[in-house]
Amino acid sequence: MEIAIRDNIFNFAKKWILEAGNIIRQTIDDPIEVGTKSNPNDLVTTMDKNTEKYFVEKIKTTFPDHLLLSEEGFGDEVKSLDGTVWIIDPIDGTMNFVQQKRNFTISIGIYHDGVGEIGLIYNVMEDELYSAIRGEGAFKNDKKLPFLRKEQILEESVIGLNHLWLCENPLVDEKVMQDLVRTARGSRTYGSAALEFAFVAEGILEGYLTMGLSPWDFAAGIILVNEVGGITSTIDGAEINMVGRNSVFTGHRAVHKRIIEDFIKKGRK
Ligand code: IPD
Ligand code: CA
Ligand code: CA
Repeated sequence: MEIAIRDNIFNFAKKWILEAGNIIRQTIDDPIEVGTKSNPNDLVTTMDKNTEKYFVEKIKTTFPDHLLLSEEGFGDEVKSLDGTVWIIDPIDGTMNFVQQKRNFTISIGIYHDGVGEIGLIYNVMEDELYSAIRGEGAFKNDKKLPFLRKEQILEESVIGLNHLWLCENPLVDEKVMQDLVRTARGSRTYGSAALEFAFVAEGILEGYLTMGLSPWDFAAGIILVNEVGGITSTIDGAEINMVGRNSVFTGHRAVHKRIIEDFIKKGRK
């Protein structure tokens, strides 16, 4: 993708994500309708839908030839990443949005012919924008994020994971996951996959692993983590399917390798 074209798209995406976040902050105390999707804890609100519609309207008007892959279904039916595709989660961490009114993000990954060019993750209530353009590094607001430390051991690392890993689960033996939690310095659950990716890029989490995510959860995060020298794969170390659901493991390269070798492989079902 030509640099001038990419910069132009980035400027619009940045403007829109900040505007959408501002609208959410201004209306955070207004009543919202909360519905459920696949199960009683899979929540969706009018705010998720309205935010997604906001992006659809902006993108379709400004870039009519771009496609949109987004969670709430107002985008296009996207089966491949040919052309320019915006992958959007209008609110990542809807449960946090509903229950806590914080710790949720807007996530936008922009891919061109399958290559991740632009990643934006906006921690709305903190007004913290994580952004990256391929090859130009990752930023938190206007501050460039440093490359991840050269050496890093699991015993000094904090790992993001959902507590469900510690219960019986279909992917990895829970005893092995308990051992991983005991071996790491600490573990955290934030409830927004995109925020956890941003924390890995920021170097305040050394890894984040999860059982099943969709493209809008990880599209932006992968680009951010790449820009600081981290790695993202499935929990088995395989390549991510960018238009399907995957288990996902992102993190510092050394920690990623150690967790796959010494834990996942041992406990994989
Ligand atoms: C969810 C969040 C959560 C993750 C779930 C996602 P949503 O996204 O990222 O942290 O564990 O798998 O579905 O539904 O709030 O956009
Ligand atoms: Ca999500
Ligand atoms: Ca969402």
